[in-house]
Amino acid sequence: MNCLTEKTGVSPVDGDELRELISHQEKIRENERKRIAREIHDELGQHLLALRIEVSLLKQDVFNDAGERAKRIDEILAHIDLTVKSVRTLINDLRPAVLDLGLVASLEWQARDFSRANGVTCIFHTDDDKLELDDRHATVLFRVLQEALTNIVKHARADRVEIGLRRVGDNLELTVADNGVGMPKVRNRKVKSYGLAGIRERIGMLGGEFRIRTGDTGTTLVFVIPYRDKNVRTT
Ligand SMILES: Nc1ncnc2c1ncn2[C@@H]1O[C@H](COP(=O)(O)OP(=O)(O)OP(=O)(O)O)[C@@H](O)[C@H]1O
Ligand SMILES: [Mg+2]
Repeated sequence: MNCLTEKTGVSPVDGDELRELISHQEKIRENERKRIAREIHDELGQHLLALRIEVSLLKQDVFNDAGERAKRIDEILAHIDLTVKSVRTLINDLRPAVLDLGLVASLEWQARDFSRANGVTCIFHTDDDKLELDDRHATVLFRVLQEALTNIVKHARADRVEIGLRRVGDNLELTVADNGVGMPKVRNRKVKSYGLAGIRERIGMLGGEFRIRTGDTGTTLVFVIPYRDKNVRTT
């Protein structure tokens, strides 16, 4: 296969690109904050207001009839359930809850979720189920896989994706291979694209490496980061 290979080390973007990337990420964060504020206002705020009204009516004992009172209490319970659900959604937006299941389980979950949502065969394999990472490294890998899968949906036209996780010496290697159309040559890619640059930056910040192999028969992204077992303390 005639592969175009990009190898990326720790400081691969120049000053202008870095500034543009930081400003783009800041915009994403700002939008994210707006969305979360909206969720708090529209969902959480409304449920709490409704709860307050219901409870104050109960306190005034305006429902003399026991049946009517029980109905009101059921409504209050339903509002409490919705409030709890809304809080869960918010927390999950801030940090994917699935990460609590551990690195391997969370990547496996992403593969299954991607497959279900997009009708693309997506296989995850690892030769070591016990691989664990500290929270910071695990979150980076989770977000990196998220961007790689989003790119596959947007650009690759693939019908099969293979995700592999393995330990290589002191490093951890994550590969994401699709059988799609392959990447256009760098000069033909759209100018305003930030996903891969963001990945490169995040992996670089962990002292890792990011490589792309692409040709006519798909694209493989390879992420290598130092293996930091969450159970081993480093000084
Ligand atoms: N799996 C893939 N298969 C084919 N082309 C891809 C794949 N992943 C990325 N590309 C190409 O690389 C380009 C850069 O990807 P990148 O994620 O940086 O930007 P983007 O997805 O276009 O925009 P965004 O800033 O929203 O991520 C894409 O525009 C696309 O042409
Ligand atoms: Mg992208």
